[in-house]
Amino acid sequence: MGLIERIGIEHPVVQAGMGGGIATGTLAGAVSAAGGLGTVGILPPKQFEAELEVAHEQSAGRPIAANLLVPFTTRAHVDAIARSKARVVTLHGGFESRLVHRLQEDRVCVLATVGTVDEARQALAGGANGLVVQGIEAGGHLVGVEPALEALQRIHDATGSNYLLVAGGIANADDTRRALDAGAAAVVAGTRFLLTHECRAHETYKQRVITADRTFETMLFSMGWPMRHRVIPNAATDRWCRDDPRGPGAIRRLASWTGGMRHLPMAIADRFAVTQRPAIPFFGPASPLVGMPERLVDATALYAGETALRIGSVVPAAVAVRELAGVP
Ligand SMILES: Cc1cc2nc3c(=O)[nH]c(=O)nc-3n(C[C@H](O)[C@H](O)[C@H](O)COP(=O)(O)O)c2cc1C
Repeated sequence: MGLIERIGIEHPVVQAGMGGGIATGTLAGAVSAAGGLGTVGILPPKQFEAELEVAHEQSAGRPIAANLLVPFTTRAHVDAIARSKARVVTLHGGFESRLVHRLQEDRVCVLATVGTVDEARQALAGGANGLVVQGIEAGGHLVGVEPALEALQRIHDATGSNYLLVAGGIANADDTRRALDAGAAAVVAGTRFLLTHECRAHETYKQRVITADRTFETMLFSMGWPMRHRVIPNAATDRWCRDDPRGPGAIRRLASWTGGMRHLPMAIADRFAVTQRPAIPFFGPASPLVGMPERLVDATALYAGETALRIGSVVPAAVAVRELAGVP
């Protein structure tokens, strides 16, 4: 049975989990109701469970998924998923076979995000049911190191797995068709769904993505989570990434010592974001959401993929699903 049949969705289109309140139950539910697979991004466990419930209520009984950022995942997140209707989980930011097995005890299909053949082999050997192959053009945190379709080919040749999804560079039906022709079981899109009405990103953040003329890889927003990420420019990056897109070396070194901060409850990390200023080079991974002060758009991470340069409007999530699937 193919992955899409196993998951039980109509279109081979997956909305990427976008954590910290960007992709909540309303977005995930709308995507699933439209025949794609909607994914609730990671939040503190109680909120996560509540948003999974919203996604289920709004999905018209169709499958929904949950996303876990491995470094921030606690037992309470796994318990929240077990109590929810999500039976697909995508993992990102690392891999732990113990976590995979715990999720599978609750009949969850686990897809691990990978960028290289080594990571793909490790995830499949560790029990993952399938892989999300992320390309370097993807928005947000990156394991991708080469263009998505090249990574797909390489990982398919090395593993023989047919349960491979592609993330990165997916903005329209032509992109989806190319990915499926290259052997992907489905596509995963983040930036396209960031630019939907149901997404909880700050409206000014969405407008900045639509008008952006470049994206770049940086380490600037790494306090508490030192991992490469793709963003569009704002005042913080204009100030600190002028000489080196990764940000000042001293800041990167400091960030690399702060990996342990990930064990702080997620809610504390979110409160930290509100204190950020473009002129003070101490930036965590949170992004600006609806209801936050507008000034944070210039002081927090504006994650977006290369597709930002090709997407020109904010649309309802159902329209985005249909555009990606190539159906009228
Ligand atoms: C705003 C934003 C937030 C993201 N947050 C997450 C996340 O929390 N978990 C995750 O697995 N991937 C996250 N990603 C990465 C996506 O899973 C995916 O790899 C990427 O969006 C694909 O590239 P695209 O943005 O060009 O579609 C995020 C991407 C964006 C754009």
